[in-house]
Amino acid sequence: MAAQIKIGLDIGLALIKVVVLSTKDTPRRLLSLGQIASPQPGIISDSDLDLESVANAIKNLMTEIKAPEKQVIVALPESKIFTRVIYDLPFLTNEELAQAIKYAAEEFVPMPITQVNLNYQVIFRSKEKGPKSRTVVFVVASPKNMVNKYLKVLSMADLKPIAIETELIASARALVGSNPFSPTTLIVQFGATTTDFAVVSEGLILLTRSISTGAVALTRAIAQAFNFELIQAEEYKKVYGILEDQLEGKLFQVLKPIVDVILSETRRVIQAHETQNPQRAVKRVVLTGGGAKLPGLVVYLANSLGLEVQEADPWEGLSKDPALKNKLVADAPVYSVAVGLALRED
Ligand SMILES: Nc1ncnc2c1ncn2[C@@H]1O[C@H](COP(=O)(O)OP(=O)(O)OP(=O)(O)O)[C@@H](O)[C@H]1O
Ligand SMILES: [Mg+2]
Repeated sequence: MAAQIKIGLDIGLALIKVVVLSTKDTPRRLLSLGQIASPQPGIISDSDLDLESVANAIKNLMTEIKAPEKQVIVALPESKIFTRVIYDLPFLTNEELAQAIKYAAEEFVPMPITQVNLNYQVIFRSKEKGPKSRTVVFVVASPKNMVNKYLKVLSMADLKPIAIETELIASARALVGSNPFSPTTLIVQFGATTTDFAVVSEGLILLTRSISTGAVALTRAIAQAFNFELIQAEEYKKVYGILEDQLEGKLFQVLKPIVDVILSETRRVIQAHETQNPQRAVKRVVLTGGGAKLPGLVVYLANSLGLEVQEADPWEGLSKDPALKNKLVADAPVYSVAVGLALRED
């Protein structure tokens, strides 16, 4: 019998998250979830000892949530892969397309093409050959040594990957889905160490970007400005955030320059997308990742961008036990990637 369970595993640099869904039910039913602090430096390290600690943390987490099986779906971090939508291809056969993608990848992948795995998704393809026919594809190039590292950690954790995809593909599935009528959406994924962006239109990703400013930078800035220990700084961040009317605006002043880095990049991504796709203007921004919970962030971004901004709720489309409600709401944006992975179809 085909497995009736899907397990999404998101190995973040701050938190490792797991979500178990039953695929027997429609909508899919949430069976369990959990998170554990990632050992430092975590999966970014190349040392076997560090990777072993990550594997042990994953093992503990799987035991704690009583994971019903060993097969998992995992995500690669956006900051370590290369993605691009290629617009300017003519009508091509499958073979020609694979070749064309290889050539195109040589332009945007800053390492030898033999050292990456290339995957692609067709976004648009004219039905037949003609002077105006064209092909648009979304290409993902994943460095083989990074994929191998993930496989190694999973094997150390005694798990079997049934699929590997990118974080933003997973988040897009959880937060926008494949509904062709949902408005063009910008996902801003504010993680611990990076912030990733994806423009999603008609269920397809049209643009992605990653910058190395994340929620840890906020904590560091607070610690430095007020001479706090990191634990205390983290607490202040979570309680007061960028609420201008708190602590006489002192925290706001410290955090604003960092949040503004994300704001500027958000504007750049929207502009780059709308130049290429003027008929698909971004209508809303969905904030996800742990940083999305920064008090005051939704309002600050909405006022600055003049767009609808909302905090991600990956649980929305799932059936779940009402007793879990409070637990789910508190951590919603942290689980978007894991939910998206567990929602994968094949
Ligand atoms: N209320 C809050 N306000 C601001 N930041 C928060 C809040 N709650 C959690 N965070 C931050 O969110 C981060 C964890 O989020 P998340 O799980 O999305 O990161 P991650 O996936 O481990 O990181 P990465 O994606 O960079 O590997 C931590 O840095 C934490 O400080
Ligand atoms: Mg993350």
